[in-house]
Amino acid sequence: MTNRINIGNSAFLLPAPQVILGTILDGKPNFMAMAWVTQANYEPCVMAMAVNQGHASHRAIMETGRYSINIPSVDLVAKTDYAGLVSGNRTDKSALFDVHYGELKDVPLIRECPLALELRLVQHVALSHDTLFLGEVAAAWTEERFLTDGRVDVEKVRPFTLTMPDNRYWAVGEQVGRAWHEGKALKK
Ligand SMILES: Cc1cc2nc3c(=O)[nH]c(=O)nc-3n(C[C@H](O)[C@H](O)[C@H](O)COP(=O)(O)O)c2cc1C
Repeated sequence: MTNRINIGNSAFLLPAPQVILGTILDGKPNFMAMAWVTQANYEPCVMAMAVNQGHASHRAIMETGRYSINIPSVDLVAKTDYAGLVSGNRTDKSALFDVHYGELKDVPLIRECPLALELRLVQHVALSHDTLFLGEVAAAWTEERFLTDGRVDVEKVRPFTLTMPDNRYWAVGEQVGRAWHEGKALKK
């Protein structure tokens, strides 16, 4: 039998999807690197994400109730990282990306990102440092070249992930199976 060791309550390594949060801060677009994000409801589609209460993006969401979640491809690693190194509280990040607007009219969507979601805030829960925001997706924007048979194709989008606490970015690797399928052989 192998020995299981306890590594504490925060030093774990799970790849998280690396995205860019877009908001309107004092009338201008602002962008922030974000990895604590996941889908939280199927229909309507609700996304959950955690944002530190000191971030400019936090204030922007509380003031506007609107934001975007943009999925960058690997060629945007440097710009994504930069958006996580400097704060809109001190640095103007409004010109970092080419922006377009969608259904909600006032949510900055990043044109360079293969996929961009615009969201309305529906609920929030304040924790000790971060706030868990729940937002309903109003629309999702992409381009024909990122689709296969009408669906977003991960090989064309080329998203990347973050692992902590080693703080490294990873491209998505090879396909290892099909979901809701590979386990069928084990069913009695
Ligand atoms: C790779 C990476 C991932 C990050 N993920 C998050 C996150 O999920 N939540 C969060 O609150 N801050 C996260 N940050 C930190 C913010 O992006 C960073 O503090 C940023 O400067 C805040 O910008 P703002 O003050 O303009 O909102 C992350 C930073 C990096 C580099």
